[in-house]
Amino acid sequence: MQDVITFALAKGRLAEKSVDILEQCGIDCRRILEPSRKLVMSDASGKFKFIFVKPSDVPIYVEHGVADVGVVGKDTLMEEDRDVYELIDLGFAKCRLCLAGYKDFDLSKPRNIIKVATKYVGIAKDYFDGKGQNAEIIPLHGSIELGPIVGLSDIILDIVESGKTLQENNLCVLEEIVNCSARLIINKVSLKTKADVIKPLVKSIDEIIKNKEN
Ligand code: PRP
Repeated sequence: MQDVITFALAKGRLAEKSVDILEQCGIDCRRILEPSRKLVMSDASGKFKFIFVKPSDVPIYVEHGVADVGVVGKDTLMEEDRDVYELIDLGFAKCRLCLAGYKDFDLSKPRNIIKVATKYVGIAKDYFDGKGQNAEIIPLHGSIELGPIVGLSDIILDIVESGKTLQENNLCVLEEIVNCSARLIINKVSLKTKADVIKPLVKSIDEIIKNKEN
């Protein structure tokens, strides 16, 4: 009997496109997008299970092997720094991880300390440590752009997708740190023990992505 493969998918802006790719691989799972309080769902064949979780929890489920496969943003993957295989750049949910603030804020000016509001505490710490800049990292869980507006922070470190949120709040990108997009991640043990299902699945997703690029 075929092993059941469990997917951890990120709720929110990645959800629909994650399902699109799985559907293109022949996994009949569109109904998992329907509103429901059910936490674990299966496809029609029962060979695949799905859990929809907070994006930052996807790498945790996959690292622990509770899920074999995950779809998550590179930004989250960098922040979580979990022991998983990152196998494919899925090419959607493209965004930039940036420092942003008011346009007259001079990042290069020497200062004793810089206050940075962010959801990406680990990335921010590494970044400013790397620059030798003393930084107070202020953790927020949403509406990060409020930081400089209400005087909580000097700048923010956040993802910029369309740039609309910054623009509507009179803020701008001060420095780009890295480009991000959705990634396919796999549990290290599952890739060996469930290779008969996971390897063809990875191959099929890879082909779909390559065909899209061409
Ligand atoms: C994210 C991010 C920015 C915004 C960027 O927030 O934290 O606020 O999207 O997107 P844009 O460049 O297209 O405007 P999200 O929408 O996830 O909500 P949140 O503020 O609750 O985290």
